[in-house]
Amino acid sequence: MLEGHFLLSSGLHSPIYWEKFRILQHPEFTGELCRLIADHFRVMGVGAVAGPALGGAVLAYEVARLLGVKAVYAERGEEGRAFRRGQTISPGEKVLIVDDVLTTGGSLREMLEAVKKVDDKVTDPKSEVPLQPEYAKNEYRSIKPEFLVLVGICTHLGCSPQQKSAEAKGEMGADWAGGFLCPCHGSKFDLAGRVYKGAPAPVNLEVPPHTYLSDGTIRIGEDRKGA
Ligand code: FES
Repeated sequence: MLEGHFLLSSGLHSPIYWEKFRILQHPEFTGELCRLIADHFRVMGVGAVAGPALGGAVLAYEVARLLGVKAVYAERGEEGRAFRRGQTISPGEKVLIVDDVLTTGGSLREMLEAVKKVDDKVTDPKSEVPLQPEYAKNEYRSIKPEFLVLVGICTHLGCSPQQKSAEAKGEMGADWAGGFLCPCHGSKFDLAGRVYKGAPAPVNLEVPPHTYLSDGTIRIGEDRKGA
């Protein structure tokens, strides 16, 4: 742990700073830290451990080794973070995500703000067409703003939209704030799955019934009791 005056990437100032590589350079300490993480999640039936390259990859590797499952590493690219080089996650596989540093969740807040900014550019900003359960008829079309559950089938002719992060401005346009693109005929959807005006897709992407069994588990296809 370093002491001084630090300007964090979140914009906050801090009198202390945990330099993760000071821990990662000691396999013994890294192993002990990862053992604590692995022991905490051992009972949850994790099938893979994912970590962002660079710092998170070391932690993901060791936690996966201790749990006896595979590790996958997300690399940053034009379209945001992705699992490249043939790394795969099977449908339905439980994935534990480990990251090295989280301060304010700034990236998450940026994404939520982006949804508000495109209200005048989407066809059905208030989700009047009933393509979501009543509990998801809100600004983010979700139960918890930070998690979105969508049916990945375009409402035009049924192709599969691809995620396009806010970093894909070169391809999507200078004012692109993140969302989804259906490559078949170019329908664009925002981060809440709302279709942009002028797209061939007539309505928003569908939000299926879903319910939170716990903070970390969602069951899709089932409504909350009484919802
Ligand atoms: S199927 Fe998606 S735009 Fe045509």
